[in-house]
Amino acid sequence: MPVRIGFIGTGGIAGQHFSTLSQIEDAQPVAFCDVDTARAESAARRFEGKSYSDPRKMFAAETLDAVYICLPPHAHKDAEIWAVQAGCALFVEKPQANNMKTAQRIAAAIADAGVISSVGYHFRYFDATERARKMLNAKGASPVAMAHGYWLGGFPGVSWWRRMEQGGGQLVEQCTHIVDLARYFAGDITRVYCCAAQREVPKTYKDSNVPDVTALTVEFQSGAIGTMSTTALLGGVGATGLDLMALNTLYELRGNSLTVRAQGGETTSFSHGNNPYLSRKTASSSKPSRPASAPASKAPTPTASKPSP
Ligand SMILES: NC(=O)c1ccc[n+]([C@@H]2O[C@H](COP(=O)([O-])OP(=O)(O)OC[C@H]3O[C@@H](n4cnc5c(N)ncnc54)[C@H](O)[C@@H]3O)[C@@H](O)[C@H]2O)c1
Repeated sequence: MPVRIGFIGTGGIAGQHFSTLSQIEDAQPVAFCDVDTARAESAARRFEGKSYSDPRKMFAAETLDAVYICLPPHAHKDAEIWAVQAGCALFVEKPQANNMKTAQRIAAAIADAGVISSVGYHFRYFDATERARKMLNAKGASPVAMAHGYWLGGFPGVSWWRRMEQGGGQLVEQCTHIVDLARYFAGDITRVYCCAAQREVPKTYKDSNVPDVTALTVEFQSGAIGTMSTTALLGGVGATGLDLMALNTLYELRGNSLTVRAQGGETTSFSHGNNPYLSRKTASSSKPSRPASAPASKAPTPTASKPSP
């Protein structure tokens, strides 16, 4: 049965979700809302749906099963609340908000409505992540004692990213993926120490007030500790990752690849190009279009080797 989907926010990431949804037979994007009416209209033309500039008008006019919220961090205010009050299942792009008060208000509305909801923390759904979880949950495996994560890249082009009061800064806006992944493995974070600075950004973007380097130390509820760092100074030279350290074992997650180094020099590598937004069944039988950022699906390539001493 077709699932009728509405979008609030039809910018960059919405375009990637359009491509993924085009590969799912029962997904039917039908309504598109954006304050930039040209964007909403363009999406509506693509799917032969309707465009709106006000989410309330969209909910009044449409019967929707699900809503994708693809707004910049500062724009999450009431859209989610209107969506769940209309009984819609919810997919919300990360970060849920740029402040705790808004995030908690939205979480309470979702819990009250009892609808299905998910935030776009897609690193959780990579096959490499699943593989690491299985290894760490295996009988006799030692738990994570320390995590080291990083998000190193350049300055995104969208103007809201340059302002703390809008995007929330790189830690909240991008490294949130790595924070989420660390929590997935080591549990909730109970204490944070952070240093952040603006070193180079004002030279290029005079209107920017976000730090371009950040370093933090965290404590997890489990007793594990961790460090995370971000920089926006590396245009064209990005790297993201999370290293997990357990007794005698190092797990290195790099997007959808995992390398595990164990005592004695044994190394296991696993790499898989799954699109975390598609089930394996859909991915293998799907129509050709796929999101620009998602690598093509291919068979898993686990390898094990013992390096020469
Ligand atoms: N999961 C991922 O890997 C991933 C990747 C990229 C972006 N994102 C997240 O998606 C969110 C959006 O990013 P983007 O790159 O699409 O930004 P964008 O600026 O390209 O698009 C945002 C759209 O929202 C619209 N908008 C703003 N306020 C609105 C409002 N009140 N009502 C309706 N529309 C409104 C804008 O006009 C714009 O078209 C960000 O939070 C970003 O972190 C996630």
